Amino acid sequence: MGTLDQDGKILVGKGEQPEYLTLALGNRHGLITGATGTGKTVTLQVLAEGFSRAGVPVFAADIKGDLSGVAAKGEAKPAFVDRAKQMGFDYVPDQFPVVFWDLFGEQGHPIRATVHDLGPLLLARMLDLNDVQEGVINIAFKVMDEADGAADGEAQDLVDLANLRELLAFLGKNAKDIGNRYGNVAPATIGAVQRQLLVIENQGGEKFFGLPELDLSDFMAVDAQGRGRINILAADKLMQSPRLYATFLLWLIAELFERLPEVGDLDKPKLVFFFDEAHLLFNEAPKALLDRIEQVVRLIRSKGVGIYFVTQNPLDVPDTVLAQLGNRVQHALRAFTPRDQKAVRAAAETFRPNPKLDTAAVITELGKGEALVSFLEGNGTPSIVERALIRPPAARVGPLTPQERQALLASSPLRGRYDKAQPHRPLADLLNGNAAPAGDEEDAPRNGSGRNGSGRNGRAGGGAPAEQPGLGSRILGGIGAFLSHPAVRQFGRSVAAVVARTATQEAMKRMGMSPSSRRSYAQSGRGRSRTYGLVDDGGADTGGAGIGASAARGLFGNPQRSSDRG
Ligand SMILES: Nc1ncnc2c1ncn2[C@@H]1O[C@H](COP(=O)(O)OP(=O)(O)O)[C@@H](O)[C@H]1O
Ligand SMILES: [Mg+2]
Repeated sequence: MGTLDQDGKILVGKGEQPEYLTLALGNRHGLITGATGTGKTVTLQVLAEGFSRAGVPVFAADIKGDLSGVAAKGEAKPAFVDRAKQMGFDYVPDQFPVVFWDLFGEQGHPIRATVHDLGPLLLARMLDLNDVQEGVINIAFKVMDEADGAADGEAQDLVDLANLRELLAFLGKNAKDIGNRYGNVAPATIGAVQRQLLVIENQGGEKFFGLPELDLSDFMAVDAQGRGRINILAADKLMQSPRLYATFLLWLIAELFERLPEVGDLDKPKLVFFFDEAHLLFNEAPKALLDRIEQVVRLIRSKGVGIYFVTQNPLDVPDTVLAQLGNRVQHALRAFTPRDQKAVRAAAETFRPNPKLDTAAVITELGKGEALVSFLEGNGTPSIVERALIRPPAARVGPLTPQERQALLASSPLRGRYDKAQPHRPLADLLNGNAAPAGDEEDAPRNGSGRNGSGRNGRAGGGAPAEQPGLGSRILGGIGAFLSHPAVRQFGRSVAAVVARTATQEAMKRMGMSPSSRRSYAQSGRGRSRTYGLVDDGGADTGGAGIGASAARGLFGNPQRSSDRG
């Protein structure tokens, strides 16, 4: 019987005809919709299995834990056997290569990123900041870029939330200097941001920030049989903090976008990304963020990544994004209230009509695991909508047992790679040199995570006078003067960086420090793991109009990595 997939196509279901998703159009994104309990997660599993069989790696968030069963062989339950027979084939159980991930490191490998990598826009979203507070975050990133880039161009010291606290405290202490250059940083605003940080920390968000960072090539692997690995993110706990969940997945998409090379249209995607509970991404999202999401979804296609949103109703997705989701599976919607009925009509109108179907009526009649489907065809146009039975998944429907999961974790190909957090240095070293006045800790409440003590240790032998201004503020003063000079403005980032670096080296010399000691620290650290040949397309780096790092910011406002800048 084989896999039932055709060459270059995944069998998804069958109505009057078999319904296939064309792999070469798999990067044109997709949408799975329907009310709770109508079959969305199972359809996601069917697609994930199909992609995996075709050698396409998959990423999916597992909201209820029930997707984990894709790692175990399916059972020939009568319902599945009958459904397969009805569709004209025999049910053949199968299982798929799975790697488990978990932000909290409990049910899978931890995924970590740096605050720096998240960038100001997503950070502000994660922290639910207002415009004024977001302004402070933007200033914090600018200050960091300059203080850091000034030393060695390795603007990656902003690693975890403790670092961010240190940076905010630094901003508070130097509010006057910084305010003169960037605009007001009111202590009350900084305090408000610090409190929001606490909220995220209480949700366990600090686990997400740290080292080693996720290496995306670990997401894009196939197993020894050539099957695409299915990366499953345990999201049951994460979903209790919807904002954290949504920003985290968005960050992942942004990472893929920024790091993967341009490849145009391939015969199959390089990665397919399923975004379950996608409405959380769009709920109350500010316009600026929606614009970026729209942009990333549009552009990531040419990097070979397909994004599949899963949500209850197509109306959950903004029109500009919806228009880009070519492969559609619509499960049943309820139509109890007039509002429901309106939503059903709207959902029906997103399909290319089939004269033989009353699309809106059918949406309310569909049974479990039945759907209206429309996939992109040959030249990329959507097929006429068809009513189809979705095939039964070949792997288990439902969760793994904890024992099964542990066994898989123990034999994971990535075992040991991410499991232990890697230490990094406190920001105080950079911002204050060894000369920070005692007592600055009171501005930066510590969260007791155990990473923070070394700031004190780091300057134990300093013995500098307490009133000595920190290196950071010297840098700020020096760089500010240089950067605001009209001659420097004209040359944009590279010149500004060189000038800034020189200024810092001067400052360091004045303080009796060797600039090279700072540099060697940065190089011995991290950020060197990305050697798998992914290159940035450089699009964001060519602007050159602004001053400093702002010219080199990526889509979500995070600076380009210096490792990509070369
Ligand atoms: N394609 C299918 N083949 C067989 N059973 C299915 C199929 N789709 C859904 N089902 C049945 O319906 C149940 C609910 O589906 P699920 O995907 O969890 O719904 P949703 O994610 O929309 O809440 C599944 O547990 C399964 O028993
Ligand atoms: Mg579900």
